[in-house]
Amino acid sequence: MTQSPPRIGGQDVESWGDPDDPIVLLIGRPAALFGDWRRSVRALTEAGRHVLIAPAFDGADDPTGRLRRLLTDLPSRPALICAGDSLPAVIPALQVTGAALASCLVISASDAAVQPPPGPAALDLPVWVMARDDGAGPGEVEDALIGFLERHAPREALHYHAGSDPRTLRDALGCFATGVTVVTTLDEAGQPIGLTANSFSSVSLDPPLILFCLARSSANVERFRQAAHFAINVLHIGQQPTSGAFARPGDRFQDVAWEAWDTGAPILSGALASFECATDQIVEAGDHLVFIGRVTRARFEPRRDPLLYFRGKYRRLHFS
Ligand SMILES: Cc1cc2nc3c(=O)[nH]c(=O)nc-3n(C[C@H](O)[C@H](O)[C@H](O)COP(=O)(O)O)c2cc1C
Repeated sequence: MTQSPPRIGGQDVESWGDPDDPIVLLIGRPAALFGDWRRSVRALTEAGRHVLIAPAFDGADDPTGRLRRLLTDLPSRPALICAGDSLPAVIPALQVTGAALASCLVISASDAAVQPPPGPAALDLPVWVMARDDGAGPGEVEDALIGFLERHAPREALHYHAGSDPRTLRDALGCFATGVTVVTTLDEAGQPIGLTANSFSSVSLDPPLILFCLARSSANVERFRQAAHFAINVLHIGQQPTSGAFARPGDRFQDVAWEAWDTGAPILSGALASFECATDQIVEAGDHLVFIGRVTRARFEPRRDPLLYFRGKYRRLHFS
């Protein structure tokens, strides 16, 4: 076990264990969190956790801002452990983007019935109230804590092998951050159709080719197959509601302004970029069809930020 006092996010932080291990951040005096804090910290480091100890943020000037600065300056998302009296600083720091800042929150309390105000449901990350004085024998609290961390802040990378759990494959693919597009065309009756798709990719500059993948299960698959043209509309950060609307059933064009260029395929007004395409090839690929389009016209807005999608959630660009 090692100990050194680095400064992170403007705070003096004690460090125990291997810095390459996943971080467990203790907020406040460790003696206030564990019955025997040295034993608990040792158990955590032996279980492959890098334990950092930060000062309590209660009472400090702008405690929430200081805690958020510390969390954003850490090299990876920590598991947080705090006492109930730190919650007035911790809960606001984790609201809205909590899951991006911490993997999970453990609240050390003498009474396991304690609920963090305004309730764990309000936080977008797993919360566990750890009863520290429940008369458990030596090691029992640590075992329960390490079990919780293994479930919600796993140490090991997750693996997928062909034929195993498709959810794991989906999660692995979700590590690739994408933009979000709305793909559109006109049906045989000249009605606009479209859906949200993040499977867009550029393919070739000469000739100018792009692609998107359409699930065979899409209600629009035959219409896209029949259409000679389609358009790709890349969404900007303000168009998350449009992305939501085009991924749900209903009249998707009701609340969006659009125009037609040369082929009639709907071009969403104000999109970050739009590409009008002639369908070049349709490739059958498992449960999707790959539509390759030859770009005939494009327009883009040079200043707006894109809407991003990563690990199943919408994101925005972050400049540090
Ligand atoms: C961010 C995001 C990306 C998506 N990407 C695709 C995609 O690339 N291909 C696809 O077929 N469906 C994709 N979908 C799902 C479709 O938008 C959704 O299933 C839609 O309801 C299909 O509509 P349809 O059946 O009317 O065609 C995505 C959904 C979201 C929210």
